[in-house]
Amino acid sequence: MGQKILLEKAHVPGIRTYEVYRREGGYRSVEKALKSMTPDEVVEEVKTSGLRGRGGAGFPTGMKWSFIDKKSGKPRHLVCNADESEPGTFKDRYLMEFIPHILIEGMITSSYALGCNLSYIYIRGEYMWVFRILENAIKEAYAAGWLGKNILGTGYDLDLHVHCGAGAYICGEETALIESLEGKRGNPRIKPPFPAVSGLWANPTVVNNVESIAAVPWIVNNTGAEYAKIGIGRSTGTKLISASGHCKNPGVYEIDLGLSVDEFMNSDEYLGGMMDDRPLKALVPGGSSVPILPANLIFKTAEGNDRLMTYESLSEGGFASGSMLGSGGFIVYNDTTCIVRNTWNFSRFYHHESCGQCSPCREGTGWMEKVLHRIEHGHGREEDIELLWDIQRKIEGNTICPLGDAAAWPVAAAIRHFRDEFEFHVRYPEKIKNRDHFVAEPWEKVKHMVAKEVV
Ligand SMILES: Cc1cc2nc3c(=O)[nH]c(=O)nc-3n(C[C@H](O)[C@H](O)[C@H](O)COP(=O)(O)O)c2cc1C
Ligand code: SF4
Repeated sequence: MGQKILLEKAHVPGIRTYEVYRREGGYRSVEKALKSMTPDEVVEEVKTSGLRGRGGAGFPTGMKWSFIDKKSGKPRHLVCNADESEPGTFKDRYLMEFIPHILIEGMITSSYALGCNLSYIYIRGEYMWVFRILENAIKEAYAAGWLGKNILGTGYDLDLHVHCGAGAYICGEETALIESLEGKRGNPRIKPPFPAVSGLWANPTVVNNVESIAAVPWIVNNTGAEYAKIGIGRSTGTKLISASGHCKNPGVYEIDLGLSVDEFMNSDEYLGGMMDDRPLKALVPGGSSVPILPANLIFKTAEGNDRLMTYESLSEGGFASGSMLGSGGFIVYNDTTCIVRNTWNFSRFYHHESCGQCSPCREGTGWMEKVLHRIEHGHGREEDIELLWDIQRKIEGNTICPLGDAAAWPVAAAIRHFRDEFEFHVRYPEKIKNRDHFVAEPWEKVKHMVAKEVV
């Protein structure tokens, strides 16, 4: 049984209210930090904890905090990224919906560490009911004296606002988020300068994911060294995983990093194995942007090591045979899944969400969607597979922000590991006409046909 740091109190009746949250020990980290620690000491604890950003990239949080420009004398801001629009990811929503005060507490302690007096939570437009929950929690925190002027009589002032986006995935990219917060179109900025130097209103800014900020109270209360004892190597602490797809028990789980993928997938404490006991075909372990893994690379790496739920193990083998922990959007696929359709679906999303500033992303995501559409609908050509490969290769690394990469990687991985399925679509259009293809005849039963056909 793993430790619960974030979700320990999630099921306490009434925990959403300030009263119950406080009674259960909430806001202790604010008292401890403001009354007995300097801001730099809080930063040091977070560094010692080894906490890595939970928004997807896994950048060390303490190190990011230490980059914030203090010399300029400009106001500094902490912005919480609650945009959570990556398909397959819904863990931040869970945290904010059920224990909103853990985020407010984390925002206060972290803002103090960074020397910010004005901080924001930027939440996706589709989470309107969660926005209201946060608004209410912030109101309660002001009323109880945790926000506003002279908090706890320490002379520290902090104002916190929650701001609602308008439903664009690109506004999760930190500089697009900042543009949007400033009231502009959410177009990512060219970096440098990085937000730590010039972010919100050109002031030094740190953008952190909800889960990263929510981990800070526990680190301050229990020390960074205790946090670093959980997990393995450079993957310290616990991680929220949003599990969906063909598993028995989908949902949001808090795991100790280092748990094996096998145990997470198959034990009753977590996903409980495959829905209807059908065979596992593929896994997207970290949200739609990360490479899909075929069944033979899910529980073991290509080197034969156990695959673990860590940043390192999930990426072992690079993109040739590995993937990424990403945002923890764990999508399970059984043998009836059409990988081409899944890839087309993801491509549709990225095309729709591209902001259009860079040609490779603006045009390339559209081309990929079109080519995948025709393959999936039985109009594909043999050379389309090479064409897709070529397009994704030309997007990756050639854009202002990583949305281009995020669109390219799933296509590359699908072709890399499931090329024969693309070939099957091209060679047997009549077999895939039915939108239920692979349901009555799962891929395993028909794949022998591809090898027989010589084109
Ligand atoms: C297209 C795109 C969408 C993103 N969406 C999110 C998001 O919804 N939530 C998030 O925390 N980070 C998202 N990120 C990553 C952020 O840019 C940023 O790295 C992150 O908020 C930093 O927080 P962390 O260091 O705590 O992980 C996204 C990045 C890209 C390129
Ligand atoms: S990569 Fe795509 S989403 Fe990112 S800035 Fe360029 S066009 Fe916009």
